[in-house]
Amino acid sequence: MGYRVIGLLGSPLTEGNTAILLERALEGARDAGCETETIVVPNLDFQPCMEIFHCREHSTCMMDDDMQAMYHKFREMDGLIVATPIMTMGIPGALKSFIDRFQVFFMAKYVRKESLVPKELIPYRRGLYIGISGMNVPDVFDGAKLTMRAFFDIIDVRYHADLLIRDMDHIRDIKKRPDLLEAAYQKGNEIGRIVREGR
Ligand SMILES: Cc1cc2nc3c(=O)[nH]c(=O)nc-3n(C[C@H](O)[C@H](O)[C@H](O)COP(=O)(O)O)c2cc1C
Repeated sequence: MGYRVIGLLGSPLTEGNTAILLERALEGARDAGCETETIVVPNLDFQPCMEIFHCREHSTCMMDDDMQAMYHKFREMDGLIVATPIMTMGIPGALKSFIDRFQVFFMAKYVRKESLVPKELIPYRRGLYIGISGMNVPDVFDGAKLTMRAFFDIIDVRYHADLLIRDMDHIRDIKKRPDLLEAAYQKGNEIGRIVREGR
C-alpha cells in the first residue's frame, strides 16, 4: 500500500505564497516516495460544528457535507502538512471550522477511548505546520501553534516540525526567497521519509 501525505491549505489563494510553500513541501514528500493530495479548505462545502454531539456516541457527524469524505481521508493518511496564513492573529476562519469538525475524532479518542485512526498507523503519523504572517512580530504564531498542536493530538498525528515565516508584507513574493522554499522542501521530505521508514 502507498504512503499518503495530505496537504491542507488554509489560504483561499491556490497560487499564493502559502500554496507555493505547501506545494514545495509536498514535492519533498513525493521525492521521499509518498503519494500526496492537496485539500483547499476554503473550497470545501461544509458548516461549522453545531454542537449536536451525535459524535459523543457515534464515530461520525450528523451533518452530511464535505467533511464526511474528510473523516475517511484523515483516518487513512500517514502524514499531514498544514499550510496557512495568519488572519486576525490566528488561523483563518474556514480552517478553524474545519478543525472544529474533528470533534468526531476528539470524542472517539478522549471520551470513548477508541481512536478512529487504525492502531498500526498511530506510531508513524507525522505532521508539519507551515505558517506565514504579514507582520513581523514575535507572538504572531502563538495562537495558531496551540490550535495546530491540539488538532494534531486529536487526529493522532505527532507534531514533527514547523516552518514559521514572518514579515510577508515585506517579502511579498516567496519565490524571491529560495532559502525558504528549500526549507519547505526539506521539511516535507523529512515527513515523507519518516512515515515511509516507520511503516
Ligand atoms: C483577512 C486577513 C487578515 C490578516 N490578518 C493578519 C494578522 O493578524 N497578522 C499578520 O501578521 N498578518 C495578517 N494577514 C496577512 C497574511 O497573513 C499574509 O498576507 C499572508 O502572506 C497571506 O498569505 P497567502 O497570500 O498565501 O494567502 C492577514 C491577511 C488577511 C487577508
